[in-house]
Amino acid sequence: MPQSNLTDRFGRTVNYVRLSVTDRCDFRCVYCMAEDMTFLPRQQVLTLEEIARVARNFVALGTEKIRLTGGEPLVRKDILELVKEVGTYGLRDFAMTTNGSQLSTMAEPLRKAGMHRLNISLDSLDAEKFRNITRTGNLNRVLDGIDAAREAGFRGIKLNTVVMKGRNDEEIPELIEFARKKQVDISFIEEMPLGEISEHDRGLALCTSDEVQSIIRRHHELVPATEDSGGPARYFRMPDSPIRVGFISPHSHNFCSTCNRVRVTVEGRLLLCLGNEHSVDLRRVLRGNPVTDDKLRQTIINAMDLKPERHHFSSEGDVQILRFMNMTGG
Ligand code: 5AD
Ligand code: SF4
Repeated sequence: MPQSNLTDRFGRTVNYVRLSVTDRCDFRCVYCMAEDMTFLPRQQVLTLEEIARVARNFVALGTEKIRLTGGEPLVRKDILELVKEVGTYGLRDFAMTTNGSQLSTMAEPLRKAGMHRLNISLDSLDAEKFRNITRTGNLNRVLDGIDAAREAGFRGIKLNTVVMKGRNDEEIPELIEFARKKQVDISFIEEMPLGEISEHDRGLALCTSDEVQSIIRRHHELVPATEDSGGPARYFRMPDSPIRVGFISPHSHNFCSTCNRVRVTVEGRLLLCLGNEHSVDLRRVLRGNPVTDDKLRQTIINAMDLKPERHHFSSEGDVQILRFMNMTGG
């Protein structure tokens, strides 16, 4: 493995890149999108070849871990071609975040194309609540997708649940039992103030990870997991189950000091921090004349100087970042 050449001003090494492959999605989750979204015109969106080129150059700079995100990555036409290509880069970890709606047919092809792990969003086990949160989602399809993913033999599957008070917080025990039964990991996520939504008041809906933990502890002992994922989640295990339970707490626990990641939007904007607007336009380099890998790599290396020390999400639920999550990559 090459040493990463990507180090920022605060001594953090960047070896993890999250690539958004589309801003589109077949769901309209209330915390992620407005009901009526306008999506990007095609010419502003990177081609799959451009995305692969970005990925390849990050790998040349020492990136060991790539995650494909969206929007919903599986709504992008020919996404398997990109997965196959990136699957040949010899990554230590290659993962995708998906809403699961197409996994019943896509899980096995993804696994065969070289994908190691999946994160699948699951906010409710009640069909009606699931529909209310996703606005368009069908719970049964996602449950079928989760089963297909389990059968496909991924190295790891994790469910992601965004917890909102009065919406799905009372389902935490059931979601835990579901994860135990299916033998998949589960992470509970505090809602982040990304993009202006009108559907609910984020300040009121915020359910902190500490609250979620104490609900789980009524039923199960949680023992801190010893391994460090290097990411923002803190993981626990239960004495009588192999699964891990994670908590992602942008509000209540700052995880910036060990941040090892950057993101690239589907427009080719390299984002240095989820909670800040600092970014560099890679698309201009990708479409410049001449396009060279050297130029692209130098642009990426120089961008590291822009990585901010930390984000400043406030728990009042006010929006500081106008980008929606579907633009950022979940
Ligand atoms: N806050 C927290 N998580 C979010 N996601 C999307 N929008 C938000 C938000 N505002 C996450 C969810 C979803 C994934 C695609 O992105 O975990 O499962
Ligand atoms: Fe789609 Fe994921 Fe956003 Fe929901 S959270 S609308 S599934 S991109």
